[in-house]
Amino acid sequence: MQLDLPHRPRRNRKSAVVRGLMRETELSPEHLIYPLFLHEAADDHPIESMPGCTRWSLAGLVREVGEAKAVGVGAFVLFSAIEDGLKTPGAEEAHNADGLVPRAIRAIKDAHPEVTVITDIALDPYNADGHDGLVERQSDGSLRIVNDATVDVLCRQALCHAKAGADIVSPSDMMDGRVAALRSALDMAGHEPVSIMAYTAKYASAYYGPFRGALDSAPKDGDKKTYQMDPSNAREAIREAKLDAAEGADIIMVKPAGPYLDIIHRVRDAVDLPVAAYQVSGEYLMIKAASAGGWLDEDAVVLESLTGIRRAGADMILTYFAKRVGELANG
Ligand code: PBG
Repeated sequence: MQLDLPHRPRRNRKSAVVRGLMRETELSPEHLIYPLFLHEAADDHPIESMPGCTRWSLAGLVREVGEAKAVGVGAFVLFSAIEDGLKTPGAEEAHNADGLVPRAIRAIKDAHPEVTVITDIALDPYNADGHDGLVERQSDGSLRIVNDATVDVLCRQALCHAKAGADIVSPSDMMDGRVAALRSALDMAGHEPVSIMAYTAKYASAYYGPFRGALDSAPKDGDKKTYQMDPSNAREAIREAKLDAAEGADIIMVKPAGPYLDIIHRVRDAVDLPVAAYQVSGEYLMIKAASAGGWLDEDAVVLESLTGIRRAGADMILTYFAKRVGELANG
């Protein structure tokens, strides 16, 4: 039987070359940012809650950056696991000029001056309470995460990272007004070239569980719902995006990525700034666990999940699979 069909979409899929011509979305290592964990120790430790990820020593960190760079990944974001003894209610270690993060920035820049170093701006690894901001206990026993005093500490943290050579600072705390405050603190200190990648729509997500295991940074008490966003809300993400754009953010981020593709798409349409998306630890772990069980083809699902995030509108993606994607792209 022969249908009378002028429109046959399959013609545009008939060979690998034709499919290449039609392809709308590219995924390459230059779109990726590789999150790396570090700790104060001479050796590298596998992270139990995130199989395939490592808490690096400074030497291991520099080596991993070099290997990722060799396969085309040029941007890295640093997360530090801090010893319990250094965690205080005022999170002073967050702006110690000789702290772990500033030393890591200098070590990476010494060995690989051309890579882009991004640092996380938030207090949770340094805060005795495990919250992203300073905590005030109320008379009824409940906790209040104090906004404006936190922003002051975040500014000190960002200046400390900028002095050590960070290229981009990335506030993940969700306090109000922190982008404007960081921009002005950086500019007043002569760090106007340092960019701000704002966690703009960061949801209060159960997908962060494995990450908090990696850093021992889970809140000791309460949850993060008074500062991170309600997963039910989309309009609120647009509001945050417009505020961060007006406050001077250079890049805005949606996090997590996979379960929030609609938010990536809407934020992409609402503002002109580049959009980043974070494929978080829980998304990583679901792919890892299913592949370890032999139930999924890991590499294929990694590429498809990241392509989906790009297709939704993300210019760049933070992913624990960054180095692996680089290896795949380089055959
Ligand atoms: C903390 C921070 C978190 C992540 C990045 N920065 C955890 C949190 O907010 O509790 C999560 C990353 C991931 O799950 O991969 N400011």
